[in-house]
Amino acid sequence: MNDTIDRWQAADGTWLDMRQMRPDDEARVKQALNMLSANARRNRFFGSIAEFSDDAVHRLVAIDPHKEYLLVVVRCEDGVEVPIAGGRFVEHDEQAECSFSLLIGDAWQGQGIGRRLLKALLREASLRGLRTMRGDVLADNRPMLQLARSLHFALVDGEQGDGVVQLVRELPGAASTRWRSVVRKVLRK
Ligand SMILES: CC(C)(COP(=O)(O)OP(=O)(O)OC[C@H]1O[C@@H](n2cnc3c(N)ncnc32)[C@H](O)[C@@H]1OP(=O)(O)O)[C@@H](O)C(=O)NCCC(=O)NCCS
Repeated sequence: MNDTIDRWQAADGTWLDMRQMRPDDEARVKQALNMLSANARRNRFFGSIAEFSDDAVHRLVAIDPHKEYLLVVVRCEDGVEVPIAGGRFVEHDEQAECSFSLLIGDAWQGQGIGRRLLKALLREASLRGLRTMRGDVLADNRPMLQLARSLHFALVDGEQGDGVVQLVRELPGAASTRWRSVVRKVLRK
């Protein structure tokens, strides 16, 4: 089954695939999470996590597809897909809103992977008819704030004392997102 959403070459020539997370990714996701720097853990989970247990990884990977969307970026190593980045959104009940998060492996940051993931999340959220995307970010997380600003997120409030700020972006309607997808496909031909 070809479930690739995006495929491109990283700066060092490695081919990367973006697709939805699958249950059989869990063991390799656990390995990848346990290799993250303290800084990446803090920026994504807002705390220090010493070790990601099987249970913790299962909670991250096993999603309700009706309310959540979870993407993984993998590289292929000796025929094995190794996760190097991920992005998700979780829908909020009856509000047509969702919250996103992103996590790029330390060695892969600053190469446009976060931008691709966030754009894919925005596209899917629009196609699902959601109207607003939010994200909680540490106030000192400059890369995330910069990336969000460049994709037209706004800061809702300043830091509330817990070191976290909230980003928000209105989403285009599903019809206009579909229309843009068609135009993109035609232009690529
Ligand atoms: C924050 C994060 C998601 C950004 O993803 P990324 O793949 O590293 O970022 P990209 O390469 O797509 O960069 C996109 C933009 O972000 C900004 N950016 C990226 N790295 C930056 C850095 N080190 N300093 C300042 N700005 C930076 C730039 O504006 C860049 O745009 P440019 O390509 O025009 O320069 C990633 O670094 C990460 O996962 N960090 C750890 C976890 C985290 O912070 N998650 C966010 C909270 S949910």
